Amino acid sequence: MEAHLIEFLGMLLRWLHVIAGIAWVGSSFYFVWLDDSIEPPEPGSEAERRGVAGELWAVHGGGFYNPQKYAVAPARLPRKLHWFKWEAYVTWLSGTALLVIVYWLHAQAMMVDPSVASLTGAQAVGVGLASMAASWIVYDLLCRSPIGRSGPTMAAVTFALLTLLAWELTRLLGGRAAYIHVGTSIGTIMAANVFFVIIPGQRRMVEAMRAGRAPDPADGLRGKQRSVHNNYFTLPVVFIMISNHYAATFGHPQAWAVLALMGAAGVSIRHFFNRRHKGAFAWQYLAVAAVLLGAVAVWTAPHVRALPAVSGPVTLDRVRAIVGQRCVTCHSQSPTFTGITQPPAGVVLTSPAAIVQNAQRIYQQVVVTRIMPLGNATGITDEERAVIAAWVAAGAKGL
Ligand code: HEC
Repeated sequence: MEAHLIEFLGMLLRWLHVIAGIAWVGSSFYFVWLDDSIEPPEPGSEAERRGVAGELWAVHGGGFYNPQKYAVAPARLPRKLHWFKWEAYVTWLSGTALLVIVYWLHAQAMMVDPSVASLTGAQAVGVGLASMAASWIVYDLLCRSPIGRSGPTMAAVTFALLTLLAWELTRLLGGRAAYIHVGTSIGTIMAANVFFVIIPGQRRMVEAMRAGRAPDPADGLRGKQRSVHNNYFTLPVVFIMISNHYAATFGHPQAWAVLALMGAAGVSIRHFFNRRHKGAFAWQYLAVAAVLLGAVAVWTAPHVRALPAVSGPVTLDRVRAIVGQRCVTCHSQSPTFTGITQPPAGVVLTSPAAIVQNAQRIYQQVVVTRIMPLGNATGITDEERAVIAAWVAAGAKGL
């Protein structure tokens, strides 16, 4: 019952996380689109006299809308002002809660990979936590430094540092956990941008207006810079959040470089849209993304690593013995592996029938991607992988 409740809580959190993330990414897309699409009002028009720097007309859901952007702020504070922050905070809070229950509480199984580095569970969590905190500190210092003043330089430096982070994390943690912690580091930067820079700056602007002072345009510019960065982070971060379904990416021997290529493709696609909305020719950015994605497709294509020759007949009994020794500590109705409370992915491998039924999935996980046994926690040998491969190749016959 307890395991079921934890699982159920995890499901609710994931649901909430995706919904809040959609709202946050959606408003990021919308406002950057708005900024890119507005045009200055007619010279001498009433809007121009009110200090409107740009406006547009849109039709949506049967209504006509006319958003206007002020150069800094309107002369008078409106009675009701809408803020956008809760979608960011809820996304970060629900995401962090998920990170804790899925990864940190089961660090030994979900984060440590002894073939990568022999860390304890607590050390692995420390690495994850430190990467998130350090990412924000370094990024924030960069933004405040002269580097932050140039968009392209900032983009290049941030990209290089995040690639370095991915490289370092894949040397310390299992691929899946390394990926997710690059994602939570970027997510933390994004949420901290809202919490520590954008919202406080807006608050100062509103307070100045309330006190009858002119708001400081620097607050507006700083907020805009962080908001544009967040916009470019969206596609890479969403890719990372779904990447744990795709072992070909995080399970690749150069998983960090695969991630860098996917991230660059994501940024390039976002740039394509942002330039297009400004009315510029931008298809080259889409072409770059297509080339990068094509390269990843080719580079991550599965090639089965050479396995030692198998001696003797391959029978289900032999496979059963291997599975019994290397898999069922996790893949049984009541797993005995520390931190695993339910059969992972619902896969139970305790009966011969279940092994036959799951033969293709077992082959994929054990021979092709070699993701299983997770982090090779149970020390499967190449000879044993070869037996499984030979058994499946011979038709995965039952008893
Ligand atoms: C340390 C625990 C552990 C061990 C040992 C382990 N697994 Fe897994 N396995 C997992 C986890 C966790 C998942 C779920 C991964 C996910 O959510 O995508 C999983 C998922 C799977 C899946 C489903 C993957 C899919 O999406 O199709 C298969 C098949 C599988 N394991 C086979 C095996 C086999 C075969 C072995 C033994 C050679 C093995 N596992 C050993 C933890 C383990």
